[in-house]
Parts: sequence; C-alpha cells; structure tokens
Amino acid sequence: MSFSRESLPLTTEAVDPASVPSRILFSGAKIPGIGLGTFGSDHVPHSAVAEAVRYAASIGCRHFDCASVYGNEAEIGVSLAQILRDGVRREDLWITSKLWNDKHGEDDVIASCEKSLADLRLDYLDLYLIHWPFPNFHPPGCDVSSRSPGAKPYIHENYMKTWRKMEELVNLGLVRHIGTSNMTIPKLTLLLRDARIKPAVNEMELHPHFQQPDLFRFVLDNGIQPIGYCPIGSPGRPERDRTPEDTSPTEDPVIVGIARRHGIHPAVVCLKWAVQRGQIPIPFSTNPHNILNNLIGVVSEPLEQQEMDAMAKLDRNCRLIKGQVFLWKNNRSWEDLWDVNGEITPP
Ligand SMILES: NC(=O)c1ccc[n+]([C@@H]2O[C@H](COP(=O)([O-])OP(=O)(O)OC[C@H]3O[C@@H](n4cnc5c(N)ncnc54)[C@H](OP(=O)(O)O)[C@@H]3O)[C@@H](O)[C@H]2O)c1
Repeated sequence: MSFSRESLPLTTEAVDPASVPSRILFSGAKIPGIGLGTFGSDHVPHSAVAEAVRYAASIGCRHFDCASVYGNEAEIGVSLAQILRDGVRREDLWITSKLWNDKHGEDDVIASCEKSLADLRLDYLDLYLIHWPFPNFHPPGCDVSSRSPGAKPYIHENYMKTWRKMEELVNLGLVRHIGTSNMTIPKLTLLLRDARIKPAVNEMELHPHFQQPDLFRFVLDNGIQPIGYCPIGSPGRPERDRTPEDTSPTEDPVIVGIARRHGIHPAVVCLKWAVQRGQIPIPFSTNPHNILNNLIGVVSEPLEQQEMDAMAKLDRNCRLIKGQVFLWKNNRSWEDLWDVNGEITPP
C-alpha cells in the first residue's frame, strides 16, 4: 500500500499518543520514544514524505525527525500547519531539525535555524542538532567517492564556535534543546567539558547489527538521550550507500524467528528492541501500513527478556552510514571519521 496526495487513506485505526513510550531529558522535558524519519534521500518525493508526516500524526505519531539537508522542510511545514489546524497542540508535537555541514560558520547558525523554522512554519524547535561534526559540504545525491576540496577534519575549537551559536539559539527561545549527531566518545568528552548547555541527545546509527555498546553506555551515563537512526537497517537506501560487507537486520534469522513468534514484521521487532533497550528509534516510512504497524509495535506486547538477550548478541559492528563523503583526504579510510582508536583522528 502506498499513497499519493489524492489518496490519503482514511484513518480507521490509531494509537493514543499518551500510550506511546516516552523518555525524560535532562531538562525534564518529555520526548516521544519513537519518531518518524523524514529523509527521503533522492528517490522519495518531498510530497510523499510530507503526506507521511500528516498521516503519521493522524494515527498518533507526535515526533518528527527533520533536517534542512533533506530538502523537504517546506513541504513538511505545510503538513505541520495542517496537523495543528486539525487540533493537535504544538506542545504535544516534538520537532527536530538539523544544521547542515556548510552552515557551521558563526554567521550562519542562527540564520539557518530561522530558515528551518520558516520552512516548517514553527515558532520554535524542540530540538536542533549539529548534523555532522565536520564542516564539509557535498552535493545531495553525490557518489561516496565525492570529496569537498576544502574538507577539514574535526577541529574542536571550531566546533565550539558553532556550539556557542547553538547555545544562543536556546537563549533566544528559538530552540528548546540542542544536541549532536554522528559524534564519538572523544569528541563528546571535549564538548561536555566545554559546553555551557550540554547536548540533550546524540543522534547515532543504532540497529541490532550496529549496537555501538560503548557510545550507547557513554551517552546514557552522561545524561544524554540516544536517538537511533536507521533503526531498521535502512533497507531503502540507495545503491551508492551500500558495500558488500553490509548486513541486513531484517533478514537476520534470530530476528525473523522472533517476528514469526509474534506475528509481526522483522522491522517491527527492531523497533520494539530499540525502545526497550532505551534509544529512540526514528524509522522512515511513507507506507501507511508500515507507519501504523511501527507505532502499534511499540505500544503492544513487549519482547521477552530472553528475546532481548538473544538480540543483544546480534551486534556485528556493521556501520551502514559510513560518511565517506566527509573525509578530508582522499587516501583516508572512513573509519577515521569515527575515532576507532579511542582518540580524535589527527588531521
Ligand atoms: N542524523 C543523521 O546523520 C541521520 C542519518 C541517517 C538517517 N537519519 C534519520 O533516520 C531516519 C531513518 O533512517 P533510514 O531511513 O535510513 O532507515 P530505516 O528507518 O532503518 O529504514 C527505512 C526503510 O524501512 C522501510 N520500513 C519502515 N517500516 C517498515 C515496516 N514496518 N516493514 C517493512 N519495511 C519498513 C521503509 O520502507 P517504506 O517506506 O516502504 O515503509 C524504508 O525503506 C531518516 O529518515 C532520518 O530522519 C539521520
């Protein structure tokens, strides 16, 4: 089942938003424990993502993960305005957006946030993230071998200049929380040392084949909520973002077995696991059947402890979003972006 602008399905089933699990951030704010991803990449039209947002809200979803680089905030803004007109209160929505890599400059941060606010037709964001810790631009849809000529490594001093502007956004009342994405333990350690307002969340790749146990523990121990992207293993990502080593959690025999026992899709098993483990999954979907089942999945019968234990053993350290385009020299390996030796990779 899929829908177009003309064929928005009538809502026959919905989930009470109050029954959806939530998490409490260090600020005391409550964030819905599952959200809808909105990155349609280059193959899902902006209008389809905007319709998915509207449909998801109509069946009880209240959390939407947006970003300027997804190119669809203006279309999503039309949906959000409609959702508010339909009677959902602004304070019951959780809207995230993200600062793109070519807007880390001190003069760009506030303007970029204001552009997202205008596109999304909102007065404030619940959460604004620095999308990547590298100020390296690459054109949307480019191949993984593409490199920006002026690409730089992580420079903490520069990141802090961007972070200070993020803090200013909170002080201006334009955003309620600020956070990070695609960070590592050494980078977060420096940020926690120097931040006046600490990150409320870290958005990171998390699925059963990529559990990032050390970083996951680190953020929780520091009062930072993990938000998990690609929670289903991103089965719809474009060919250029795949490597032969990649594995697929929804084809994992253990997950398929659990799915059969519960009579649900393996994707929903991944989402139940995510919520029960303590991260907030943000699955992308434009399929109403899947959007509904994903939400129902996290309010219905939980996985048993032995199923959770079995899934904890499935980690394959299989990073799907490797970030090659952010590399600052052609001959570097993508592992350099992720500080795999436990310290920030030198330039
Ligand atoms: N911070 C970052 O750097 C970053 C990076 C990547 C992604 N993200 C965020 O994370 C979101 C999710 O990541 P993602 O889209 O790469 O991967 P994902 O959510 O793991 O996978 C999405 C795919 O799963 C399918 N799907 C969803 N529910 C399903 C179900 N119940 N049964 C079967 N298939 C199902 C969708 O197809 P249908 O449409 O057909 O349902 C879609 O192809 C993005 O949209 C974005 O908001 C953030």
